Amino acid sequence: MRLLRRAGQGVNKGLLITDVRLVDERSDFRGDLYIKGGLIRAVGVNLRIPGANVLSGEGRTLLPAFVDLHAHFRDPGYPEKEGIGSGSAAAVHGGYTTVAVMANTAPVCDRPEVALYMRVEAEKAGLIELYAMGAITRGLAGEELSDMEALAPHVWAFSDDGFGVQRTDMILRAFQRAATLGRPIAEHSEYLGIDDPALAEELMVNRDTFLSRRIGAALHVEHVSSAGSVKLIAAAKRAGTRVTCEVTPHHLCLEPGYTVNPPLVTEKTRDRLIVALASGEIDAVATDHAPHTAVDKNRGAPGISGIETAFSLLYTQLVRSGRLDLPTLVRAMATRPAQILGLNKGSLGIGRDGDVVLVEEGEEFTVTTDWLLSRGKNTPLLGERLRGRVWATVHRGEVVYLDGKLRGKVVG
Ligand code: DOR
Repeated sequence: MRLLRRAGQGVNKGLLITDVRLVDERSDFRGDLYIKGGLIRAVGVNLRIPGANVLSGEGRTLLPAFVDLHAHFRDPGYPEKEGIGSGSAAAVHGGYTTVAVMANTAPVCDRPEVALYMRVEAEKAGLIELYAMGAITRGLAGEELSDMEALAPHVWAFSDDGFGVQRTDMILRAFQRAATLGRPIAEHSEYLGIDDPALAEELMVNRDTFLSRRIGAALHVEHVSSAGSVKLIAAAKRAGTRVTCEVTPHHLCLEPGYTVNPPLVTEKTRDRLIVALASGEIDAVATDHAPHTAVDKNRGAPGISGIETAFSLLYTQLVRSGRLDLPTLVRAMATRPAQILGLNKGSLGIGRDGDVVLVEEGEEFTVTTDWLLSRGKNTPLLGERLRGRVWATVHRGEVVYLDGKLRGKVVG
């Protein structure tokens, strides 16, 4: 592997990444970082670790690897849209080492076997850590609760993503069970049959924040897309409700004109979402990576294949323009999502998992279908030039992506 010098034979001497700008939520300085046994062991200036494998960062920027709370890998069911291997490749290409995947597969992830299958496939691909979401209702049909007790040990949260749970009696019982099981309810907040998307979202956020507080179960609000929802969530947090929320890169950065659910929003709303992300009212960025075949997209399937462009889009549009600083973007893409998932990741502190990403802040590149490793080429960013290129992704001390190569294999 280029730039990777191995000293010492057969023994894992760890990985020393030198000559980088290290940025996390709390710190920003030039130096080196050393990972051994999967954990960050040392951070400092001019580190000397005899026998370590050395990856020279040559002045690039080192961040905690990103954690995605919301993606769609379409296996089982629709591997032509995305497989767990291709989704994992796309993830590390985008600087992610941890991905939570939604339950709208076929069969739906409403039973442990499906969650286990996804986990095993991700382990076979060996690039990322995958966390499954379990369906709230059987078949995502909204009529009968899934076996949440059986699912709980295998999932981090329950969600019917793609649909909001329409029936109040159903979501009430789901919150009651989730409280007992110690798992959050992650809601796609959308009442069907209401023409105004913001109102459809806010009504459900209002219902769910109320129930979450009343029952005492954690709520995670997915892809927030209205100023009213931000206000409701902020008020609920102030009142002590256990609520967190996410926003997608496309709801922060893209003008309406591409089909996605919830729909893209006006500049005024985007500005409000950006302010809420900067202030921490919105906890996290999640990609809602939603790969589709060209045929399905042409038929109107909603969604953007976005896990590979998330960082570069946000870096180009928000950080370079001075609207968000890099440590705040790191908080939203790594620190907070890792905390929400309960993982030992998301910062460059000693003892944290050795999951890091190296980015080239000034490097400009063009998004093309060949550049995307996802099977889903459905993105309005094709042909766009972005900065903040992901150069290398390291998972527990192993270089899983480096400069166009997956674990040493050329891709794209
Ligand atoms: O745009 C979307 N696509 N929003 C969703 O909620 C579901 C997703 C999908 O599964 O394609």
